[in-house]
Amino acid sequence: MPANTSGFAGRRVLVTGGLGFIGSNLVHALAAAGASVLVLDSLDPRSGGQVGNVDALPQVQVVPADVCQFESVLTHMPGVEYLFHCAAHSSHPYSMRDPQRDIEVNCVGTINVLEGLRRFCPAAHMVYVGTSTQVGPMRTNPIDELHPLAPMDIYSANKAAAEHYCRIYAGAYKLGVNVVRLPNVFGPRANIHNPDFGFINYFVGRALQNEALTMYGNGAQLRSVLYVADAVSALLAAALAPATGQVWFAANAQSISVRALAERIVAVFGSGRVEQVEWPAARERIDVGDVVIDSTKLRSELGWQPHYALDAGLAATAAFFRQP
Ligand SMILES: NC(=O)c1ccc[n+]([C@@H]2O[C@H](COP(=O)([O-])OP(=O)(O)OC[C@H]3O[C@@H](n4cnc5c(N)ncnc54)[C@H](O)[C@@H]3O)[C@@H](O)[C@H]2O)c1
Repeated sequence: MPANTSGFAGRRVLVTGGLGFIGSNLVHALAAAGASVLVLDSLDPRSGGQVGNVDALPQVQVVPADVCQFESVLTHMPGVEYLFHCAAHSSHPYSMRDPQRDIEVNCVGTINVLEGLRRFCPAAHMVYVGTSTQVGPMRTNPIDELHPLAPMDIYSANKAAAEHYCRIYAGAYKLGVNVVRLPNVFGPRANIHNPDFGFINYFVGRALQNEALTMYGNGAQLRSVLYVADAVSALLAAALAPATGQVWFAANAQSISVRALAERIVAVFGSGRVEQVEWPAARERIDVGDVVIDSTKLRSELGWQPHYALDAGLAATAAFFRQP
């Protein structure tokens, strides 16, 4: 949590997708900072959204709304001072199975939010949540914000397109829109039972059930990771930043192989076991290979840094899911 969350006290904040994994953790942090939070979420069954993720929080209003419906978005824009756009179709495999719906949510939904910002609250600061997979296979090691974009799957391509929309609106209309691209995020309030979402959270679910954590191939592929509280602190810092039209990566300094990560989960949770399985063909076709993200820009420009080393984040995750 950054020291300056006081900037949100008493502010009107809109979080789209606020019932989802990252959005709900953001909502908890904003509520703790004294913000007045409005959540727009359609509780899409093909997402990680869960109604209990923001249960019983004062100063938080949850409104069922689909960002693909322009009027539903516009209605809630007047008076908004900060806007976090977390509503998304967030699954790579789903996007390959239903590419049209992925475009609707990730592209049209983002345009609707940007148009609402432009027309009804142009002084607001907006943060868009991008993904590290927008860059596709790593051509330079490490990957920074100047790395070319060559996404391997429809979700990542649509996330890249939506990021371009944000940059265009920031430039053409002088709106306060920034982007934080996240790597594999894990932690409390994630959907931990569906392998179509982030693999770390799925591994967490398997460890909690004392089941096998099945890694594809030999697990040597490197991944950049981040505990969700550190993702939230990056998003909050981006919203309070004076600069606009910026793109920042946020990730832990060290990448880790899928095998080593699975082994750390088993060790920290004290349950589960690591097993190797054949790559499913549909997954192998869209895999990006090694991912090594460099967050120097975010660290130097906004003073952001992650506070949770991997084991500390895993221990906090275990404590959350094991609480009675
Ligand atoms: N989880 C990660 O590791 C990760 C990594 C990089 C980027 N991201 C990005 O972070 C953002 C949040 O991801 P997440 O992991 O919290 O996903 P999630 O699936 O847990 O949450 C997405 C939320 O959006 C809602 N939603 C979906 N379609 C909607 C619509 N049409 N209208 C309104 N609400 C809708 C869902 O109901 C859900 O609550 C996404 O933009 C995602 O691309 C996530």
